[in-house]
Amino acid sequence: MTLPNIVNLRKEFDSDLKNSNNSSSVEALRIKYLGRNGVISSLMESMKDLPNEEKPAFGKTVNDLKNYFTVNYDAALKKANSKNKSSPPPDFDHTLPGVELPLGRKHPLTIVWEEMLDIFTRMGFEVARGPEVETEYYNFSALNFPDNHPARDMQDTLYITDNTMLRTHTSPVQIRTMLSTTPPVRVIVPGRVYRNEAISARSYCVFNQIEGLYIDKGVSLADLKGTLISFAKQLLGSSVKTRFRASYFPFTEPSAEMDVSCIICDGKGCRVCKYTGWVELLGSGMVDPNVLRNVGYDPEVYSGFAWGLGIERTTMMKYGIKDIRFFYDGDLRILEQF
Ligand code: DAH
Repeated sequence: MTLPNIVNLRKEFDSDLKNSNNSSSVEALRIKYLGRNGVISSLMESMKDLPNEEKPAFGKTVNDLKNYFTVNYDAALKKANSKNKSSPPPDFDHTLPGVELPLGRKHPLTIVWEEMLDIFTRMGFEVARGPEVETEYYNFSALNFPDNHPARDMQDTLYITDNTMLRTHTSPVQIRTMLSTTPPVRVIVPGRVYRNEAISARSYCVFNQIEGLYIDKGVSLADLKGTLISFAKQLLGSSVKTRFRASYFPFTEPSAEMDVSCIICDGKGCRVCKYTGWVELLGSGMVDPNVLRNVGYDPEVYSGFAWGLGIERTTMMKYGIKDIRFFYDGDLRILEQF
């Protein structure tokens, strides 16, 4: 490489520079002249073949050339970048309102489930889950439903085989949790359950429940009432009234259903509460000693309570929704109201 070539290179650079008026051509300029395999690099590389006495002058010339390239490249880059920030067209009206982008929303069942989760986790409960396809044992037998007992007909079961079914409630997860845990047990169980019911405004073949289970030494009916009344007041407001009615479930003894004063009419009577002023919120009871024995817990040492509620029913009551099918239609006119 001799000095005249360097002069030519400068000319070539100048003409390339003239044509570099956007960011990609400026980048091509950098690669060609200043890149790792560019002009400057190969000039530096060629220096090693020169006789020693020519090296200083050559080196200085190449350095000057490099500075020239760099300064001009930097300026071209700046120019290209500022061009990139496109300015609005001259007739752009800054006072026009923007375009509103549609925002997704949480499903009402998710909203209510998250509220319930929040209330119970603050009390110390953890979330447990179980399979939706269950065996006869977990769904019925271990929960103290006697063979051929009419209680099995209370729940219109969708059988898969003689012995397996879609779970009719979340209660089997009580059994699964107790079998895999040593007390104390404090769990809530959300999940889908299935029943072979005629579909109507009040019933659907699939819906969601939340089960709760608390087992420890010395747990009493007072703990059950305290926990569930506190839950109802946090969920529906502190002025809500509660009442317990004796009931029957095979897996609890005694059993009770908890009603709350209708929050739509404030207990005065309306369509939602069928003019009674009360709405059933959940089923509950003290865990039957037979159930404790089935999972290997000693009922002389441990006691506990359980409850179960339907998330759809509760959400319908909370928001005054009249038809359970709304939850599954995916109709945005309804879902966008939440
Ligand atoms: N599993 C019951 C049902 O689906 C609801 C229920 C009642 C659950 C009482 C419980 C309970 O844990 O103690 O109808």
